[in-house]
Amino acid sequence: MKTILCIGAGYVGGPTMAMIARKCPDIKVIVGDINANRIQAWQSDRLPIFEPGLLELVQPCRGKNLFFSTDIAAGIREADIIFVSVNTPTKTFGEGAGMAADLQYWEKVAREILANATKDTIVVEKSTLPVRTAEAMARILHSHGGKPHFEILSNPEFLAEGTAVKDLEAPDRVLIGGATTASGQRAVQALADVYARWVPRERILTTNIWSSELSKLVANAFLAQRISSINSIAALAEVTEAEVDEVARAIGMDSRIGAKFLKAGVGFGGSCFQKDILNLVYICRHYHLNGVADYWEQVVRMNEQHKARFVNRIVSAMFNTLAGKRIAIFGFAFKADTGDTRESPAIGICRRLLEEHAELVVSDPAALDNAKTDLRGAAGVTFEPDPVKAAAGAHALVVLTDWAEFKALDYAAIHRDMAQPAFLFDGRNMLDHQALHTIGFNVYPVGKPPLTHL
Ligand code: NAD
Ligand code: UGA
Repeated sequence: MKTILCIGAGYVGGPTMAMIARKCPDIKVIVGDINANRIQAWQSDRLPIFEPGLLELVQPCRGKNLFFSTDIAAGIREADIIFVSVNTPTKTFGEGAGMAADLQYWEKVAREILANATKDTIVVEKSTLPVRTAEAMARILHSHGGKPHFEILSNPEFLAEGTAVKDLEAPDRVLIGGATTASGQRAVQALADVYARWVPRERILTTNIWSSELSKLVANAFLAQRISSINSIAALAEVTEAEVDEVARAIGMDSRIGAKFLKAGVGFGGSCFQKDILNLVYICRHYHLNGVADYWEQVVRMNEQHKARFVNRIVSAMFNTLAGKRIAIFGFAFKADTGDTRESPAIGICRRLLEEHAELVVSDPAALDNAKTDLRGAAGVTFEPDPVKAAAGAHALVVLTDWAEFKALDYAAIHRDMAQPAFLFDGRNMLDHQALHTIGFNVYPVGKPPLTHL
């Protein structure tokens, strides 16, 4: 039996390995992490991450060919293939702070592999890494003189949170980059054979290792760029009485542009878009490509401006004063169907509203524990799982996450229990604005003229 080890049992490592275990019952899959609480949660039915369909994926394999463990050294000794899926956040200190990827976790793993491996091993970069990181990985792993032999592959992950299981089951593509040497190509084939158990061969792309590393950063940069592009148009639509969703629909029907990722909102969040673009910008500056760096940096800047504009609109609509006003925040996760709040626009937006001395009641179906951590120490905020209770007595509702739960609420009943005049700021353009206006709300959708009674 072949053994696969994944180091890092997070949003990527856990679901990806569960899918491999499910599709390859003859492969033993071990997921290792230094965080014992996380490992314990993976071993229970209260998984450490909220992801639709994940428990159903994990349960049938757990204890059969899927194992979660903190004994990473033992896993390294046993593994034929080691995936490295540790976090690679933006560096917060020293050279490249605020821009470059922090590779300390990744480097520790490389050294741990070197210290414990006893046989030839394929090491797979699953984490998102700067282009040419595999070179550094190779230098560390081969620093002992070449025995055992390590072959390094890049196999970036493209899953999105909230749809991880679906994305892993039927990926648009699987990308595998490897060295052009004979042993590099053998390793590429060995990994491709694992995915080929359920992914059609024509969707498994093989490239050189640098193209693979760079493609991951570029995919996220392009996706984020579309969101910043449409959000910039939202600003223009609001002052020209155009409607951003109508514009998105009209341009999206052009098959060259395409309809996806054109939803204006409160700005993109999540652990990767900003970090990966900043990383791309940092690499460009390193190679003195300052014009290219400026171009991509603007995607992140536009996102910051967009979030600030969203708050300014709330303040100015509510007569330039929020002091003492109760505001219900509908949604704190960076998107629906996840409890993840990393880089969620809600964090900055709530902090800004609190600076205006608003009183916030935050409601979210899955992210309240994380929200409490993110807003720890902030005065004037409480947390309420039931959005109807959160809205009682509020002057305004602010929708920040596109949870389906928020669509299903009885807004007429909610409106009756609110302070008057009642405002609703739909940061996701997910509600029926005309109906809300008829109920009596002063409605402010993103990228559309407001519907007010004032
Ligand atoms: P995460 O923080 O959820 O998980 C990383 C895990 O690695 C943590 O549990 C941490 O304890 C563990 N870890 C750190 N150092 C370790 C060590 N030395 N030994 C063992 N375990 C260690 O991160 P994530 O969201 O899963 O992201 C992982 C990587 O995948 C990142 O590079 C990210 O950019 C990339 N990625 C993430 C997503 C996503 O949707 N979250 C999607 C595609 C790619
Ligand atoms: C994103 C990519 O979609 C994945 O392919 C990639 O693997 C992953 O980043 C990563 O590398 O971490 P994720 O961040 O989980 O996945 O979620 P997305 O669905 O991409 O949403 C990101 C943000 O953009 C969210 O805040 C979302 O609300 C926002 N968004 C998305 C919009 O505002 N408008 C849209 O049209 C789409």
